[in-house]
Amino acid sequence: MEIDGRELRNALGRFATGVCIISTVSEAGEPMGLTANSFASVSLDPPLVLWSLQNNSDVFEVFSRPQHYAINVLAREHHEHSNRYAKKGDHLLDPAHFTPGQFGSPLINEALVSFECELHATHEGGDHLIIVGRVTAMHAREAGEPLLFYCGGYRHLG
Ligand SMILES: Cc1cc2nc3c(=O)[nH]c(=O)nc-3n(C[C@H](O)[C@H](O)[C@H](O)COP(=O)(O)O)c2cc1C
Repeated sequence: MEIDGRELRNALGRFATGVCIISTVSEAGEPMGLTANSFASVSLDPPLVLWSLQNNSDVFEVFSRPQHYAINVLAREHHEHSNRYAKKGDHLLDPAHFTPGQFGSPLINEALVSFECELHATHEGGDHLIIVGRVTAMHAREAGEPLLFYCGGYRHLG
């Protein structure tokens, strides 16, 4: 059976997810962020998590092999951050949006939780690269609601 790309995208969109900003510091020393919803947990012991990066991203070099990066789970009030860091050519993080973490990665202020990671492995995954990180620190907010993504749009709980 031939799988139609648009139909597949729509079908995958029926799986509700949270929204994250992947953040790191480039080799040039610039704090960078990219919106992603491909985040998933992998293993508790060792503590591993993954996300996947489009091979044709303009910032593929920055996000495909950083030694340290963070995965920031966005709260419902972060939808403008999500839009901003999903724009082509606009991945430089605004200094007002982050604080440096324990291992140097930028942590998005008021994220529901930020996972600081060190690169564990990468795997080819078709037109994406699967990036597996080992969690080195976690910073969770006490309360707050998640930003959700479903059928191509933002949603909220309730
Ligand atoms: C809700 C949402 C989820 C996304 N998830 C991913 C993702 O998991 N992986 C990815 O590489 N890009 C993802 N993107 C796209 C990137 O954020 C960004 O739009 C794209 O990388 C822009 O092109 P550039 O990377 O060439 O700058 C997502 C965008 C949105 C709005």
